[in-house]
Amino acid sequence: MKRALTPGTFDPITGGHLDIITRAAQIADEVIVAVAASPKKHPLFSLEERVALVQEATAHLPNVKAVPFDGLLVDFAKDMEANVVVKGLRAITDFEYEFQMAALNYQLDRAMETIFIMSPPQYMYLSSSIVREVASLHGDVSDMVPPCVNEALKRKFA
Ligand code: PNS
Repeated sequence: MKRALTPGTFDPITGGHLDIITRAAQIADEVIVAVAASPKKHPLFSLEERVALVQEATAHLPNVKAVPFDGLLVDFAKDMEANVVVKGLRAITDFEYEFQMAALNYQLDRAMETIFIMSPPQYMYLSSSIVREVASLHGDVSDMVPPCVNEALKRKFA
């Protein structure tokens, strides 16, 4: 597996995302964290902020880089010359949505494979939306996110 994509909105990147990216980086030669613009989700952090946070959180992983994208994932994968997408699966509730996306991407481009890595138990409950919710109510998310994200959330909700 040469170059893999780990796509997502990363609003913001969590400990769960970082776990999957780290494990993908042990399997693939190179990992591109594909940060989707996702305008319909009205992200809390701008695309530039999300990319910068992913970059900072993954700075210790030499074969990982963060790149923003807009449009179809399969087109971005072709541009990046990546033929595998790596995604995390937390629980059965993730399965249907992820199954749908993987099947759609396969339909759009037969050359692109999707593989799944199971989230570890400590991150099974975690999502960016939970992190945003807790941080907006001034709860402690320091165990859920990389330190740079914790600081960025504190600034956002100061
Ligand atoms: O972190 P998310 O928001 O669950 O990630 C979803 C994402 C960004 C991977 C997905 O929405 C995506 O691939 N968007 C790009 C547009 C696209 O290719 N859509 C068709 C597949 S759903």
